[in-house]
Amino acid sequence: MGIRPIVKYPSPVLREKAREVEGFTPEVQGLLKDMLETMEAAKGVGLAANQVGVPLRVFVFDPRVQEGSPLKAPMGIVNPKILEASGTILWEEGCLSFPDMELKIARSERIVLDGLAQDGQPLGGIELDGLLAVCVQHEMDHLDGVLFIDHASKLKKEIALKRYLSRGPKEHDHAKAHF
Ligand code: CO
Repeated sequence: MGIRPIVKYPSPVLREKAREVEGFTPEVQGLLKDMLETMEAAKGVGLAANQVGVPLRVFVFDPRVQEGSPLKAPMGIVNPKILEASGTILWEEGCLSFPDMELKIARSERIVLDGLAQDGQPLGGIELDGLLAVCVQHEMDHLDGVLFIDHASKLKKEIALKRYLSRGPKEHDHAKAHF
């Protein structure tokens, strides 16, 4: 299929809780491949399956955005789990499903991520921090139907959504990190 359209807020699929993947079927492999292509085309740092309209527990991300990352290539994660989380970090986040909206959100600064890599092998617990930890938490939220706006204060959320919903389609500012 190649590049798939990215679903934008307020599409209902963004509020769906994604299901566990039960096997590496050709459909799941095709989804992973397409999501990697779609993320690259959108110049995103991460992308969850709900964002291409598929409520399965799959996300892709690009660890190359962070210098010294333990991972060196864009990768897909299936049935991800956060085993540990610690510290607090504030990050100006953007979301590929909310063009041209950034919000400063508090997340855990360090996480240990488990799940299956796109080749079906268990990750075995990878430590990530900073931008990559933020990205993974953002994607895991997507898989639970949670959006970054939900982490902002009620007032900030209202103002940002009013502005977002009242204007026409916008492009992303590619200089910023979108997940
Ligand atoms: Co997002």
